[in-house]
Amino acid sequence: MDSIIKGGTLVTASEKYAADIGIEDGKIKLIGKDLTPENGTEIIDATGKYVMPGMIDAHVHLSLPFCGTISADSFETGTRAAAVGGVTTVVDFAIQTKGGTLKESINIRKAEADGEVHVDYSLHGGITDWNERTRTELSEIIKEGISSFKMFMIYRSEGWLATDPMLVEALNETKKFGGMIQVHAESVDLLDFLISKHNSKEEMKEHGAWLHVITRPNIIEAEAIQRAITWAEYTGGHLYVVHVSTGEGVNLVKAAKARGVNVLAETCPQYLLLNDEVFKGENGHLYATCPQIKKESDSQRLWQGLKEGSVQIVGTDTCTFDTKQKAMWEGDFTKIPFGLPGTELMLPLLYNDGVRKGRISLNKMVEVASTNPAKVFGMYPKKGSLTIGADADIVIFDPAKEVTVDHQKMETNCDWNPFQGKQLKGYPHLTIVRGKVVGKEGRCIGEKGYGKFVKRGPSVTF
Ligand code: URP
Ligand code: ZN
Ligand code: ZN
Repeated sequence: MDSIIKGGTLVTASEKYAADIGIEDGKIKLIGKDLTPENGTEIIDATGKYVMPGMIDAHVHLSLPFCGTISADSFETGTRAAAVGGVTTVVDFAIQTKGGTLKESINIRKAEADGEVHVDYSLHGGITDWNERTRTELSEIIKEGISSFKMFMIYRSEGWLATDPMLVEALNETKKFGGMIQVHAESVDLLDFLISKHNSKEEMKEHGAWLHVITRPNIIEAEAIQRAITWAEYTGGHLYVVHVSTGEGVNLVKAAKARGVNVLAETCPQYLLLNDEVFKGENGHLYATCPQIKKESDSQRLWQGLKEGSVQIVGTDTCTFDTKQKAMWEGDFTKIPFGLPGTELMLPLLYNDGVRKGRISLNKMVEVASTNPAKVFGMYPKKGSLTIGADADIVIFDPAKEVTVDHQKMETNCDWNPFQGKQLKGYPHLTIVRGKVVGKEGRCIGEKGYGKFVKRGPSVTF
């Protein structure tokens, strides 16, 4: 064996037990008590630590051209952040350009990522232009390992808007081939109307970034989720609602699942841990993301949703913009580049505010941030599991390590952080991708280009 992780407590989505893990050729070779090293086997000491399958951040936007700029974390820096944060696979998006094919976007995105990434990666497609060519290329793309496709129910000005017929068509087509449609669910017509109603100079001056809240009442998300669920119910297609931010959203997905609709919900740390008070300060614009951060009561419902299983996945929606990029807003809330840094802190935040505070169990944390994304997006059990033959994608997590969040000490390419100054207990000690240590004690020590594209199987709801 190349290495043995010794003395740790293994934590999976369903179990917690003391054992060693033997690794050979990047795979888990053996799991057992007191494994015996061979000559030359490296021993990785995990005494007092949790040994978990590497986290999977199934929602990142690295180097995304968006809101008139490009998101500040590249495939290089964004996966450095993953490497220190216990995240061994990220899934980005290849968003179709108008008039272009999905395949072209996927090839471009792959060329950007290959040679740059420190951890493994995959891609979701992003459907913005529905036509016969798009319809026919879907089956081929799914066969080539990309089985999930995001569609945006907003962002008309980016040229990304998916209309209801597009959603119905795409749900119908993807279900034939083991594909899934992910929706950014916000109600475009009402949203655009509210934005146009509140964009006078006087209101901008009076309310600043708080206008982001005024123009996005919870009904904006709820109506769109309900509509997308209606289309999933009508077509029998598989639907995944990304970045759910409202309690209403959780209730709608839960009710739909109870009547047999193929639908899943994802939420993000910003919706679990922050509330819309952040928009009131002088730096309120920094926190602008879509959907915007809601109320404490929404966070509570989202935590409850994770606990009861009506929210199945946590991803980060990482879309980093630094203070200079955010300053492009110049007081106009419609011009803020929308998005936040995220991957690096996903696991420590879930542990500190979820597990330590008794909101979710340790097993549930592994389930929602590793095993479920692997299952849903066709990577299980190669990823998201501690089983013989699986990729040795492992995070060794120190529950006693205390860290104060400081963007200056982080790998993410951002000069601020939404959780700056927050005290965390519990932090990744080592991150291992296919047997190789890529992150150690807050520093990326891997090689750029080590990460590989993960060819995925069918995407499924459950
Ligand atoms: O504001 C966000 N979330 N930016 C990234 C694009 C998206 O909608 O996911
Ligand atoms: Zn979105
Ligand atoms: Zn996103």
